[in-house]
Amino acid sequence: MVNEYEIKKQICAIGKRIYDKGMVASNDGNISVKLNDNEFLCTPTGVSKGFMTPEYICKVDKNGKVLQANAGFKPSSEIKMHMRVYKERPDVGAVVHAHPLYATGFAIAGIPLTQPIMPEAVIALGCVPIAEYGTPSTEEIPDAVSKYLQSFDAVLLENHGALTFSDNLLNAYHKMESVEFYARLLYISTQLGGPKELSEKQVQRLYEIRRQFGMKGKHPADLCPNSKAGLPSCHGCGNCDGSCHSGAATEADIVAEITKRVLEQMTK
Ligand code: 13P
Repeated sequence: MVNEYEIKKQICAIGKRIYDKGMVASNDGNISVKLNDNEFLCTPTGVSKGFMTPEYICKVDKNGKVLQANAGFKPSSEIKMHMRVYKERPDVGAVVHAHPLYATGFAIAGIPLTQPIMPEAVIALGCVPIAEYGTPSTEEIPDAVSKYLQSFDAVLLENHGALTFSDNLLNAYHKMESVEFYARLLYISTQLGGPKELSEKQVQRLYEIRRQFGMKGKHPADLCPNSKAGLPSCHGCGNCDGSCHSGAATEADIVAEITKRVLEQMTK
């Protein structure tokens, strides 16, 4: 078990990385790590996450209440969002929130990352939905994010930024990098005339690889009821709005999809 001081140093290192990579500006972004079921370390509010030292890091309980903080430091204003992730995803050990330029651009334009354009993004993330806008620091963001927690490890926050989580801090950070890289590629390929998407068969093979590797975390492909019904899933769903993941894919949706496909075949 890594000691607490080492984890604080890791949080500072990841803070510097997200700042140096331009994933946050000024004092933006926040990071937390779970120590045990009732102790969590988090970045303080209102400081640049690029210039932190271990003394900056605060400790909170599972309700986000301060257990320890040095003078002049208070936990992140977004601590409720972090705590909701830990509450609803017991497998999560770290959460990263940032405002990476391209991913946030998509979040502002209201465009989820749904196009299957490269194997790594399909395997690591599936698609990335957008949680509806909420006022920072209120329960609105945790409530909006909650809907996606059981099927995704990465969510865009409408008009705001991105949220990623995983079993440990490095993996949670890597998810943020993957989201931003995916968003950048999608943007660039759109400028170049539009991406040539992977076929449904290629996507299904990538999902299969993910299953074979037994990769940790949640992935939309594992749970999508459309996939279980043999229908296009996740990327093929078209909207990635989480509705099929929250169990809202009704029989009517499935019948409509089958009808659409049959009609497409008939008119070919
Ligand atoms: P904190 O400094 O309070 O963590 O807030 C930064 C931020 O990005 C809010 O969304």
